[in-house]
Amino acid sequence: MLGLASVLSLFGLFGLVGTFAGCRRPPQGKPLADPRLEHGRQIYLADCEPCHGPGGHGDGVVAKSQPVPPRDFVSCGFKYSSGPPGSLPSDDDLFHTVTFGVATSTMPSFATLPESDRRAVIAYVKTFCARFGGTS
Ligand code: HEC
Repeated sequence: MLGLASVLSLFGLFGLVGTFAGCRRPPQGKPLADPRLEHGRQIYLADCEPCHGPGGHGDGVVAKSQPVPPRDFVSCGFKYSSGPPGSLPSDDDLFHTVTFGVATSTMPSFATLPESDRRAVIAYVKTFCARFGGTS
């Protein structure tokens, strides 16, 4: 028998999903020519822009309320690199950050996004930082 508690928790679950879905904004701006980057951009607009900002400056609408400021990608101020100090993170470093999040800040884990989506949004994020030189 399906107890009242499980029915209620199902509603709760859908309510939660609905809340997140409601936060998603319709596609904006001109689509990018590269389909993978455009896919990454759509994920970015839905999942990253509220913190990291439309232009990747770390100035999204909720940025000010984060105890640790969201990374400004344009100034390339990345912290989590497996390379020597000052080196840019590798794709795998970025993949690790996006997959697991950062426990000491509000950078969330995106482990539930398909791997191809995580890779696509990383490729898009790299376009904000000129030091990557478009070689992703
Ligand atoms: C709730 C706010 C929030 C959201 C949403 C968010 N981030 Fe972050 N992000 C942060 C914060 C805060 C930091 C800084 C973490 C630190 O300095 O420890 C950060 C840092 C990063 C970094 C920097 C890693 C480094 O080496 O310095 C990357 C890359 C990143 N986020 C990617 C993303 C991507 C991609 C998304 C969307 C899929 C996303 N973030 C969504 C808050 C957010």
